[in-house]
Amino acid sequence: MKQLIILFIVIHAVYTWNTCSDESFCDRIRNQGIVSSLSLDTSFLSYNNYDVQAVLYNSDADKSFTLSISATDAEIFRIRIDDPLNPRHSVPEALDGELELAALTITEEVDRLSLAVGESLAVVEFSPFKITVYKNNEIILIINDRNKLTINSEDDVAVALDFTFPGATTAYGIPEHAEGLSLQSTEPGGLDPYRMFNADYPAYAIGTQEALYGAVPVLYGHSTTRTAGVFWLNSAQTFVDVTKQADQVQSLFVSEGGVIDVFVLTGPTFESAAKQYISLTGPAPLPQYFALGHHQSRWSYLTQDEAEEVIREFDNHDFPLDVIWLDIDYTDAFKYFTWNYTAFPDPVGMQEYINSTGRKLVLIIDPHYKVEDGYTVYETLRDNNYFVKNPDGSDYQAECWPGLSSWIDYTNPEAAAYYSSLFGMDSFANVTDIVYIWNDMNEPAVFDVDEKTMPKDVLHYGNVPHRDVHNMYGFTQTMATYSGLLARYDNTKRPFILTRAHFAGTQRYSAVWTGDNYASWEHLRISFAICLTQAIAGISFCGADVGGFTGEVTDELFQRWYQAGAWLPFYRAHSEETTERREPYLYSEEMQTRFRNAIRQRYYHLPLWYTLFYEHERYGDPVIRPLSYVFPSDPNTLDIDNEWLIGNAVLVHPVAIEGASEVDIYFPGDSNELWYSIDNDERYTGNEYVTIPVTMDSVPVFYRGGSIIARKETHRSSSAYMRSDPYTIYVFVDATGEASGTLYIDDYESFEYRNNVYNYYGLKYADGALNISKLDVAADYSEGSFTIAEIVVYAQNEGVSRAVFDDSSIYPVSYSVSKTYLKVSDLNVAVRDLLDITFE
Ligand SMILES: *[C@@H]1O[C@H](CO)[C@@H](O)[C@H](O)[C@H]1NC(C)=O
Ligand SMILES: *[C@@H]1O[C@H](CO)[C@@H](O)[C@H](O)[C@H]1NC(C)=O
Ligand SMILES: *[C@@H]1O[C@H](CO)[C@@H](O)[C@H](O)[C@H]1NC(C)=O
Ligand SMILES: *[C@@H]1O[C@H](CO)[C@@H](O)[C@H](O)[C@H]1NC(C)=O
Repeated sequence: MKQLIILFIVIHAVYTWNTCSDESFCDRIRNQGIVSSLSLDTSFLSYNNYDVQAVLYNSDADKSFTLSISATDAEIFRIRIDDPLNPRHSVPEALDGELELAALTITEEVDRLSLAVGESLAVVEFSPFKITVYKNNEIILIINDRNKLTINSEDDVAVALDFTFPGATTAYGIPEHAEGLSLQSTEPGGLDPYRMFNADYPAYAIGTQEALYGAVPVLYGHSTTRTAGVFWLNSAQTFVDVTKQADQVQSLFVSEGGVIDVFVLTGPTFESAAKQYISLTGPAPLPQYFALGHHQSRWSYLTQDEAEEVIREFDNHDFPLDVIWLDIDYTDAFKYFTWNYTAFPDPVGMQEYINSTGRKLVLIIDPHYKVEDGYTVYETLRDNNYFVKNPDGSDYQAECWPGLSSWIDYTNPEAAAYYSSLFGMDSFANVTDIVYIWNDMNEPAVFDVDEKTMPKDVLHYGNVPHRDVHNMYGFTQTMATYSGLLARYDNTKRPFILTRAHFAGTQRYSAVWTGDNYASWEHLRISFAICLTQAIAGISFCGADVGGFTGEVTDELFQRWYQAGAWLPFYRAHSEETTERREPYLYSEEMQTRFRNAIRQRYYHLPLWYTLFYEHERYGDPVIRPLSYVFPSDPNTLDIDNEWLIGNAVLVHPVAIEGASEVDIYFPGDSNELWYSIDNDERYTGNEYVTIPVTMDSVPVFYRGGSIIARKETHRSSSAYMRSDPYTIYVFVDATGEASGTLYIDDYESFEYRNNVYNYYGLKYADGALNISKLDVAADYSEGSFTIAEIVVYAQNEGVSRAVFDDSSIYPVSYSVSKTYLKVSDLNVAVRDLLDITFE
């Protein structure tokens, strides 16, 4: 262990990451306190019902810039400032299609212009230029309050703008950082600004403002009375200051290049602000069911025998598993879209075996391509000028896994289309229809160079410098992978992709994980905060490498990680090549039981996860939620990130402290709120801190009073075999004796749900009766068997002796020893449209 700690420190020391002071554009704008002198030139002011066009004049530089302001029906204001002579790089790809503009009510006065939409109002003051945004007549945001607006000429393309959120106490967002959910104050506070510059940063330091693998430039200013947000749509390196003051939060965004393109999320609630963001960048499409199951990965399973052996052992030891992953070593010399046939002599046979066990295969495909004559993929990319270029026009070449490599320029539509075509059923040799894709190293990671990435002056399509597109590079790869998989499966199967680098909008194509973490308690704990922050930044499908990627995991930590990981949206165990093998069946019986129980909890709740992902696509709510999202007026929730909610109904506080014999749990909400332990008869009320004793078997999880949860409790080796398994319906009443929930069912893999082929049920319990009915009457999935095996009711059940179904059949009820719940068992009731049950 000692040696490993030394290795860990050495790894840290190897990399140095730039701070604001190391980057001249940031140092100049942020540290030298430059004040802008831009004012709106009214002689060029024009507007119609949908937008305002104006000119901002910089008197110091004698330069003019174009300003446009518009709004959407969701009450989002968009403010764009560009250089008319040298238009800056913008990132329309991040947006989910063209925005639908709302009609504005515009009022012009001598020194200002007001734009109203719904309950939102933006007042533009001409000189000095400043925009004050109101919601419901209260000021929620001031843009250029501190006159930091920066936009200059050609040779100095950095841009900056400051924002003030009056009344905000807390700031959330701007992933990805190894930081708490609630952001620290950087200035004052002596901290560097949060950096967004996608970086391959293994075993990253915790609690810093350093950049990690992804960048989603959306920031929320939050308080117990309202939330507003700013989405800074820029893909260049960006630094963000967060200044928390007694009565407001201020922020400064500084980007190395690109356009100023700002969206104001007017809220007024956390939920509405987060949904406004989703209305811009789009929700994640519903994943296939298997993707929500348990994944097993390793760098790498080196041979076909090894991969098949892992599957067999999972089955021998009864661990549910849906997906096995192959890292870079399945390829021939790290040439993507090839196989090493020495190691994998019969890839199709292997996939048939995997398939016969009800599982899928994920293969890694990275963005760097080995420079090698005779490697057809490389030659085609080279001959068609599909690689990122040096300033002199030659292909950019540098070291990566295969040795000397070049990088696909996915911003070139033809390059992206060629790459997509490589996933074709007849292109990717010996790959069957059970395969999905992992995009790694796409920050992009480059070996042996500064900051482990491409120089800023290499050129993309249209001579766009890498500087301007750095943070969207991985995003463009996932876009192309997604269209490749769509075409591969002829639009019949929903693609599954995992990506390390990510940007605003990534959720439309891919899941993310927290990258190359370390087997430490700190890394376990930070994974909760990172995924919560991703969730409010649009990316719900997030998880961390269970066990930690690098470093040897202790037995205790590993068990806790399996337990906690089961309650994050993406659940994959993965480990680095030099670590000891750590498949769960290699451990003692006692540990195996804990791993198995943790994984089974995941599978019991797959119907819930699936329903929540459906509702995310439909309504935009994140799948996992900070406590402050669901209980915005509860001040105790503001900084909590060691517990979270799944949907609105499940509260999770995994044990993530070494040697813990108890945990301190906060139960959110007011004192009418009820929380039911998943393990025992205990129930708790809201607005309380409770210390709960724990053992190694404990995973503190609570159902919220007022919810109905549909679980599948039959033990299977994979979710593929659970399709027609029956449900157990759990009812947990609130203080008024009522409860409700939803359940979504479809074919689990195709897009037919978009043609109304699904069943979406509402479940309601009131006055001693349970009512299940279709919420969308027009939708129907006729093969969707929804069979109920058992109903468990946590309510005031006194005097109840039987359950009477709407077809007049009668079933006896039994009670738990303590009488906290009643149960109707041995049912075999198929629900199609409607079911009513009265407990009497
Ligand atoms: C292919 O796999 C074999 C067996 O694992 C290994 O020895 C060899 O180095 C691999 N070859 C390449 C080119 O990756
Ligand atoms: C597919 O794999 C087999 C070995 O299982 C190999 O003989 C064959 O050449 C491969 N096909 C292609 C197109 O590479
Ligand atoms: C996987 O199994 C299904 C159903 O059993 C079958 O239709 C499909 O062809 C199989 N695919 C592979 C690659 O074995
Ligand atoms: C159950 O819900 C459906 C749909 O809302 C409704 O039509 C039906 O009357 C309800 N049944 C009872 C007993 O409340």
